[in-house]
Amino acid sequence: MQETLTGESRLSRGRQLYDDLVTQLASLLEGESDFVANAANMAALVYHGLPALNWAGFYFARGGELVLGPFQGKPACVRIARGQGVCGTAAARGESVVVSDVHDFPGHIACDPDSRSELVVPLISDGAVLGVLDLDSPVPDRFDGEDRAGCERLVAILVEHQRRYSAGFSL
Ligand code: SME
Repeated sequence: MQETLTGESRLSRGRQLYDDLVTQLASLLEGESDFVANAANMAALVYHGLPALNWAGFYFARGGELVLGPFQGKPACVRIARGQGVCGTAAARGESVVVSDVHDFPGHIACDPDSRSELVVPLISDGAVLGVLDLDSPVPDRFDGEDRAGCERLVAILVEHQRRYSAGFSL
């Protein structure tokens, strides 16, 4: 039977995919307090678990700018000023940003010219933006509301996990 990836079918697949990633992330984090190690494993989980990505990783807030953290993909720009690019915009707003076509986003920072769409989710704890999770895709319009909600769930699990190990939350 032929299926289309539209409507209910696409949504339930997305939900199932993120339910599985949530379970795997919880298992990866269990018993480990080190924030960098946990962020590194989460970047690898997301990069290999979601289809059509060319970059997945973190930038951490340090002294008013974002600094490159654990990631999978090609080498990337190291420092991003708050408010600059998609990452800096998400950090400044304190909310996720979905960009359907990076060519249409003024100020987009092109680390990899293959990237065409992007999803950035901030890491927020006690109202402070600690960094962002950044996903890039070579496919235009790769990220939908299901991806945004799913990645926000994953980020919330990481942040909540580290809150329980406050000594391991320092960067
Ligand atoms: N495109 C991002 C920069 C980071 S790289 O995509 C890994 C931005 O505009 O903030």
